[in-house]
Amino acid sequence: MSLSFEIQRSTAARTDAERAAVLADPGFGVHFTDHMVRISWTKERGWHDAAVLPYGPITLDPSAAVFHYAQEIFEGLKAYRHADGSIWLFRPEKNAARLQTSADRLMLPHLPADDFIEAVRQLVTVDAAWVPEANGEQSLYIRPFMIASEPFLGIRAAEGVTFYVIASPAGRYFGAAGVAGIDIWVTDEWARAGIGGTGAAKCGGNYAASLVAQYEGYEHGCTQVMFIEPAGKDRVEELGGMNIFLISADGDLITPELTGTILDGVTRDSILTVAADLGLTPREERLSASEVLGGIASGRFTEAFCCGTAAVISPIAGFKSHHGEWRLAEQSFTRTLGLRDAILDIQYGRSEDRHGWLRRVV
Ligand code: COI
Repeated sequence: MSLSFEIQRSTAARTDAERAAVLADPGFGVHFTDHMVRISWTKERGWHDAAVLPYGPITLDPSAAVFHYAQEIFEGLKAYRHADGSIWLFRPEKNAARLQTSADRLMLPHLPADDFIEAVRQLVTVDAAWVPEANGEQSLYIRPFMIASEPFLGIRAAEGVTFYVIASPAGRYFGAAGVAGIDIWVTDEWARAGIGGTGAAKCGGNYAASLVAQYEGYEHGCTQVMFIEPAGKDRVEELGGMNIFLISADGDLITPELTGTILDGVTRDSILTVAADLGLTPREERLSASEVLGGIASGRFTEAFCCGTAAVISPIAGFKSHHGEWRLAEQSFTRTLGLRDAILDIQYGRSEDRHGWLRRVV
């Protein structure tokens, strides 16, 4: 049976003027709406006590397992306001399913897909005024997450778990650089995930593991880092926080295939689906770093981009490593920006939703 949600409205909600000031320049992940969702789970009772609550700090016992053993998973999706004022989610059932896949890997309980989607709908409905206007590229970024909240220091799957949803009005993840072309640092030293590890799960540990390489990239003027499969196999995996695509001169649109160490991105999947509409041939392949960098040098690959819910699609200007620098031939990113527009147009209701991806909330 589906959960029903108790709604406790905030008595400290921001005024219209305060909210408008935030929405004028939301940035990414800095400001949060007035409410959040919380649902509890115990081994004995299953999921219970679903509620929309005032946004605020969480009180946890210092021995809560999440602090010690990182038993945590999360999701990222967005709510979009269309020109007529209505509010829509993009493929939320994909996020619900991925949360379950991540839960399997991290030994957390399955939250039924209906309850996941209802939790998101409840929060977006209560905080609808926080969904930015359709102009520009703003949206409400929604961050569902599940943590092992049981106070217990033994190592086992937690028997007390809490699921939350918070939301944050968002502009471009990379700011202006998001469409101007970013540089990617290629690390051959650090790995984000290993074979049989948690690379395909959306868990905080993967992102924590990416930081050391990400910061090495910053030192070299790069915005993201590209991870190569460990153990000398040279296979390209994904970036610190998003998937990667390459476009060849003859119209192949290639992304590393899902092999268990790469996140199955919703934007990645959507791009593969719409590619043919833009005259591109989508391919999921094992790509080696030498093939990618050699292909850029030889002119085989003329464009590259990274993609994710937060970043949407951001063109890549070039790659750098300790061994050299590779610039993409096409610096006006024509086909990348075409794909970007195709995805955004569906999300914002500016083109027909031919794949049935949108779910109306308000
Ligand atoms: C997302 O795109 O939703 C992510 O979780 C990645 C992160 C860089 C914000």
